[in-house]
Amino acid sequence: MENGTKTIMPRIGDKAPEFEAMTTIGKIKFSEFIKGSWTILFSHPADFTPVCTTEMSGFALEKDFFKKHKTKLIGLSIDSIHSHLAWVNNVESNLNVYMDFPIIADLDMKVASLFGMLHPGESQTAAVRAVFFIDPNGIIRLIMYYPLNVGRNMKEIQRVLIALQTADKYKCALPLDWKPGDKVIVPPPKTLKEMETVIADTELEKVDFYLAKKELRN
Ligand code: BEZ
Repeated sequence: MENGTKTIMPRIGDKAPEFEAMTTIGKIKFSEFIKGSWTILFSHPADFTPVCTTEMSGFALEKDFFKKHKTKLIGLSIDSIHSHLAWVNNVESNLNVYMDFPIIADLDMKVASLFGMLHPGESQTAAVRAVFFIDPNGIIRLIMYYPLNVGRNMKEIQRVLIALQTADKYKCALPLDWKPGDKVIVPPPKTLKEMETVIADTELEKVDFYLAKKELRN
């Protein structure tokens, strides 16, 4: 950053940074909040702004989906608790949507800095629209960054959450545009024996031994 402070950019595969912060449900220690659960941490540039209101109310509207997929939600912006509370109340009055997931108050930008949500070329004062997918072991598994003027896509957020959980459960990879119900990629063979097994498997949809797809069976 311009003031000489080193910018931290967490990467996929990193442990989620630890912090304590005030949120709309009270003070939290992040490692305790995320323990043993999938978590989506998302930042928005500012309370009482239009795009943010569509996005944050959108997360609240999908709370049954995230509950079904055992995923906690937690928001953040560089605003005060008083601003968050007033905005939550205002959104409930205007849209009849109650944003009851915790929203971190980050006026000193401590958490936004830890998670690389401050992109000074985009804004000196607001967090960009970041989404961090954190697994039950506290590892960051997928990161999205959007600019201030483009809202995120809820369907894509839901798709990648299911994709991550599916890849873990079935030890597979997922192709372009994969969605639940589609075939998955068979891990490419690492030995001649594994290659021969793939070649001999008549149930696989194969382009070649290194590009084979299979149905998921529970
Ligand atoms: C918005 O959410 O509409 C917004 C917030 C900050 C800058 C630009 C747009």
